[in-house]
Amino acid sequence: MTAILGVSAFYHDSAAALVVDGRIVAAAQEERFTRKKHDYNFPVNAIEYCLKEAGLTPEDIDYVGFYDKPFLKFERLLETYLAYAPAGFSSFLAALPLWFRQKLHLPRELNNGLGGAYRKRFIFTEHHESHAASAFFPSPFDEAAILTLDGVGEWATASFGTGRGNRIELTHELRFPHSLGLLYSAFTYFTGFKVNSGEYKLMGLAPYGEPRFADVIMEKLIDLKEDGSFRMDMSYFNYCQGLTMTSPRFDELFEGPPRKAESPVTAREMDIAASIQRVTEEIMLRIARHVHARTGMKRLCLAGGVALNCVGNGRILREGPFEEVWIQPAAGDAGGALGVALFIWHQLLDNPRQVAGTDVQSGSLLGPRYEAAEIRAYLDSVGAVYHEYQTDAELCDRVAGLMADERVVGWFQDRMEFGPRALGARSIIGDPRSQNMQSTMNLKIKFRESFRPFAPSVLRERVDEFFQMRPGEDSPYMLLVAPVQESQRRRVNGTETSLSGIDKLKVSRSTIPAVTHVDYSVRVQTVDTSRHNRYYDLIRAFERKTGCPVIINTSFNVRGEPIVCRPAEAYRCFLATNMDALVLERFVLLREEQPQARDISREEYLAQFELD
Ligand SMILES: [Fe+2]
Repeated sequence: MTAILGVSAFYHDSAAALVVDGRIVAAAQEERFTRKKHDYNFPVNAIEYCLKEAGLTPEDIDYVGFYDKPFLKFERLLETYLAYAPAGFSSFLAALPLWFRQKLHLPRELNNGLGGAYRKRFIFTEHHESHAASAFFPSPFDEAAILTLDGVGEWATASFGTGRGNRIELTHELRFPHSLGLLYSAFTYFTGFKVNSGEYKLMGLAPYGEPRFADVIMEKLIDLKEDGSFRMDMSYFNYCQGLTMTSPRFDELFEGPPRKAESPVTAREMDIAASIQRVTEEIMLRIARHVHARTGMKRLCLAGGVALNCVGNGRILREGPFEEVWIQPAAGDAGGALGVALFIWHQLLDNPRQVAGTDVQSGSLLGPRYEAAEIRAYLDSVGAVYHEYQTDAELCDRVAGLMADERVVGWFQDRMEFGPRALGARSIIGDPRSQNMQSTMNLKIKFRESFRPFAPSVLRERVDEFFQMRPGEDSPYMLLVAPVQESQRRRVNGTETSLSGIDKLKVSRSTIPAVTHVDYSVRVQTVDTSRHNRYYDLIRAFERKTGCPVIINTSFNVRGEPIVCRPAEAYRCFLATNMDALVLERFVLLREEQPQARDISREEYLAQFELD
């Protein structure tokens, strides 16, 4: 037996992944255990979980891999500082303590994290190799082009190459400070959202605005080549030398200073969001065409933080030159832990890959699951009132009935997802036909910004009736955006068309308004029997009751909270919000029956989590 542990840590989204004899046994992000969003500390809890899942101890591990090369990263920091000295001194000083304490002593840190019990080799791959490995090795393709699009690792900010059989080879890269990820993050910062976490909000905001700044971005900020590579005019940015992303010159181009966090979002931010989204998509498309031309491959594998831009991904798939695209669900740095483990198994140890038509990511359900006995014991210990169902059929029928009555349900099943999206294991679900559901869920359940769209889960076999996907296209990981079918759209009347900004939300645009964005786009998850079991059965039951094979699927958490991991977290989140029902495996809890529902303070609950 060969056991390989992959680790990513010390930047953001620490994670661990365990590969045993080539099989992905477990993978999880540290934040889910520590309850600290984007936790970047050494992932002791995630490692402990992975070993437990496999029944191993640290002594059983044969290789430990780390997802980037700290010395090269330090070199970049140092060189950047020298190039911008003395202006860069403050950011350099701010970064130094962590480097001297931990990052430059990684083998020691890794050893400490493993309780001193591991005595074999540590292997370091480059940041982009880790992303590339996470994109190609689990994919269903025997050979493919690989593209990574990211903020920055050591020096590379984007790279491409090919994967064939059990090997990957990266041949080209774009280097720091020129970076699509950092460009997008600069706009995330400028529009008042948190860098490395608010990028999703910026993408969600884009359809409300007009891309009136797109030309300014193209003309002033970047010099974009036909092949998608670009240079940034660094006088508009401040991330090399300062502690902010953009410089005062940037403000002049975008009509004033950055939006203050939590202040109202205005038309300016919406237009800025639309503009940078358009430019990002243009760059992604150009790079995809270039990669296709250079590699001659028919298929593409994607990873890196920018590969979470599912609007851009959808355009690559529909308008780009590749026949098929596979995207690593944990496309951000957490996925690097999985990448380095698979890299060691295939590339360093030269073990073959068996490609059998589907990916080996197992629906990305790679985290902990909880048995009925454990859940029952917990529920009894807190005096919860529950109904246990004996069969999946009865359970799904009951939950589908609740949803059809416009109840919002917390759905906790199976192994927790690896990656930022909830895929039906730790989800909040509801009826997408309801016009009020989007604002109810945003404001009363998730306590987050009202503009943010929700995504649907749809039965795989009925996806074409609702969404314009390519024939045979699959989206089990919710990483692609597609338009709503014309036949499902509702005609918008004269007064409704004249609404602008956030008011666009008031208009019902389709038969499933709660998941239809203001531009008719939808971030689709296709659900099938091979990956999803009980979640599939639930949507089938909802379809039987209502005729609708689509439900709303959003992550099981409130704003700023990591997605729930354990039953206890699900129960507390259920009590603290306005969720109507909670389903833990086959246990159903109704809000009105819970004696503790009034004991828990919503304010205190929400205050635990720093706003994201
Ligand atoms: Fe990365």
